[in-house]
Amino acid sequence: MNQTLVIIKPDGVERGLVGEILGRLERKGLRFVAAELRTLDSDTAAQHYAEHVGREYYENLVRFITSGPVMVVVVEGPPDTWQVVRTMMGTTNPLESAPGTIRGDLATVMAHNLIHGSDSAESARREIGIFFPQLVS
Ligand code: TYD
Ligand code: MG
Repeated sequence: MNQTLVIIKPDGVERGLVGEILGRLERKGLRFVAAELRTLDSDTAAQHYAEHVGREYYENLVRFITSGPVMVVVVEGPPDTWQVVRTMMGTTNPLESAPGTIRGDLATVMAHNLIHGSDSAESARREIGIFFPQLVS
């Protein structure tokens, strides 16, 4: 799998960090196959975050991701591009993310950690299918 799904979350769009974040991915040498600014409905958010149902943060997560426009991007590069993007994102909790990573450099709050990236080849395929079904055969 050489494609992955990236979502710049509402905090990233609101803070004007779309260019900063996508610029980092571009400078790394990754390419964009599809990109769309859209506001997610709760059904789409629930499908995307299905693995988190029942967690104590789930309702806040869905409320947040549907709270404003997000930039949804299919990113392409070498095999396991999902892993390249995950490394560039940093850990989930931005207080622990290494400097040099997107979350480590630009965020401080777990719930407002700017970016989603698929966490496996299987997740990438599934998530691209949710947002850009025409790209998945
Ligand atoms: P997760 O998939 O574990 O993290 P990642 O985005 O790094 O793949 O969780 C999805 C999102 O849920 C995470 O980006 C922020 C939110 N979240 C919380 O608000 N609190 C938590 O304790 C966890 C684990 C996640
Ligand atoms: Mg995740």
